[in-house]
Amino acid sequence: WVLMVTAQTPTNIAVIKYWGKRDENLILAINDSISVTLDPAHLCTTTTVAVSPAFNQDRMWLLGKEISLSGGRYQNCLREIRARANDVEDEKKGIKITKKDWENLRVHVASYNNFPTAAGLASSAAGFACLVYSLAKLMNVQEDNGRLSAIARQGSGSACRSLYGGFVKWVMGKEENGSDSIAVPLVDERHWDELVIIIAVVCSRQKETSSTSGMRETVETSALIEHRAKEVVPKRIIQMEEAIQKRDFATFTHLTCADSNQFHAVCLDTVNFLLNVSQILMVCLIFRIISCVEKWNRSEGTPQVAYTFDAGPNAVLIARNRTSTSLLLQRLLFHFPPNSETDLNSYVIGDKSL
Ligand code: DP6
Repeated sequence: WVLMVTAQTPTNIAVIKYWGKRDENLILAINDSISVTLDPAHLCTTTTVAVSPAFNQDRMWLLGKEISLSGGRYQNCLREIRARANDVEDEKKGIKITKKDWENLRVHVASYNNFPTAAGLASSAAGFACLVYSLAKLMNVQEDNGRLSAIARQGSGSACRSLYGGFVKWVMGKEENGSDSIAVPLVDERHWDELVIIIAVVCSRQKETSSTSGMRETVETSALIEHRAKEVVPKRIIQMEEAIQKRDFATFTHLTCADSNQFHAVCLDTVNFLLNVSQILMVCLIFRIISCVEKWNRSEGTPQVAYTFDAGPNAVLIARNRTSTSLLLQRLLFHFPPNSETDLNSYVIGDKSL
């Protein structure tokens, strides 16, 4: 027999960024972060997990290609979920698995993204959140999403925020064992539903530096990171929570853009950051998009769109409503036509690709 579960998890985009760890194995951050979870219909991971007595080892396929599960992150997630497994019964199939059986049963995992992997679109966030969620369903784990978020966090820090919709905060926590480093929902997806998120896919190539090694180098070499983590972010978190509660788009835009810029400032302040020409060109394109958005916001008097960039060059633009979205798209298409020398491939709004 084979027992299977399939789940879908959306990705999330940080508006106050996580960058830097205090513990690399448990994945504990040096500051709190806040993100918005995208609509699962648009950018998401779909994962199927299966268990059978015929399987003799844990195996995983990503986009149809087998990947090694030897990395500590997968093992940590699997171990934590197995430790919480419960009895499972499927009467129709005549399957009965006891809590004890799970120790000796192996699982197979197949995972797909409907967006580029490792191109700075938080694919690891959706990926690990979905892995943990689907394994928890398969093994009848009874923990709430907060506890599951602490397990997903051990796969990839940003993954803990993908277990909830709407705006989500990852509380960095104080405990050494990470037990209080969990995600908490701030408001659900209906709270601010006029916002429209557009992703300008500049480059779908894989990132050259992983977030993990990039943030390690930042913590080791940047003189600015401590000031950011201890002084700037704690204040921004309070202000951002308030702006989200009040749906105050002007403050939201100011904080989102400032935090994206400061995240890139600490990256520039990291030794060996600008290692190659493609990274320099990418930074130039980021600045051209920023300048286009800022000029427009200034000319309108009130901000129409917030921008934020993660570790890759793809621009995430959050428009205040549908009217500003169409005006923004006209502007972007004029200044950055897809497939021109700008290197911009396409725009994605929701499930529509332009
Ligand atoms: C810039 O969560 O990918 O997107 O914990 O090492 O897996 P690891 O890093 P990851 O880092 C995400 C960094 C970011 C900001 C954010 O999502 O908060």
